[in-house]
Amino acid sequence: MAFTFFFRDRKILEAIRDHALPALRDSRFIRIWDAGCAMGPEPYSLAMVLREHMGSHLFRNVEIEATDIDSSNLFGDTIEQGIYHKERLRSVPADILGRYFQPEDSTGYYRIVPEIRRAVRFRKHDLLSLEPVRERFHLVLCKNVLLHFRQEQRIEVLGMFHSVLEDPGFLAMEQTQKIPEEAAHLFQSLASNAQIFVKRA
Ligand SMILES: C[S@@+](CC[C@H](N)C(=O)[O-])C[C@H]1O[C@@H](n2cnc3c(N)ncnc32)[C@H](O)[C@@H]1O
Repeated sequence: MAFTFFFRDRKILEAIRDHALPALRDSRFIRIWDAGCAMGPEPYSLAMVLREHMGSHLFRNVEIEATDIDSSNLFGDTIEQGIYHKERLRSVPADILGRYFQPEDSTGYYRIVPEIRRAVRFRKHDLLSLEPVRERFHLVLCKNVLLHFRQEQRIEVLGMFHSVLEDPGFLAMEQTQKIPEEAAHLFQSLASNAQIFVKRA
């Protein structure tokens, strides 16, 4: 079971905020696919960053499809409930912790506030099916997932991401994941210090 922690990768969250958000904030809806979301800390961290920078009115238009292969059948329930132990919250900045987490009980569990929970929806999905969960995303976030695949599978999955992205549409990955040469024509890098890309037409 992959159970990661909140604000695990600040750099990519900041890159999304700085490079993707300015181009998207006027969209009627912002549709995001977090592919390989594990138990939810990642899509919820992203939702909190977006809420911070968009305000409550625009944030209502954010829809995050959080997907994972979910071999344990636990991901959906965990994400829907939005309840996490404080162990997972160690990297959450204090102001964000105060605004978006409410103590659930005296055993160290916190629940994410409804405004943030509403923005994230979980679906079970196998990336290697190469069937997109839906079309017309503005951002695909796929971190620490492609490294588990063979190179030809990575190329196919990146091709699928490209095909479901709007124009402009953005792709974000972990720092160590490079785009294979065969898929390099699909995306243009936006930052030298983060793996954030814009779709090439
Ligand atoms: C190391 S975790 C990364 C979680 C999160 N993205 C992060 O960076 O914190 C890798 C996740 O990829 C998921 N995964 C592996 N193979 C997958 C597949 N074929 N389709 C969808 N998700 C997959 C795993 O279930 C796991 O939750």
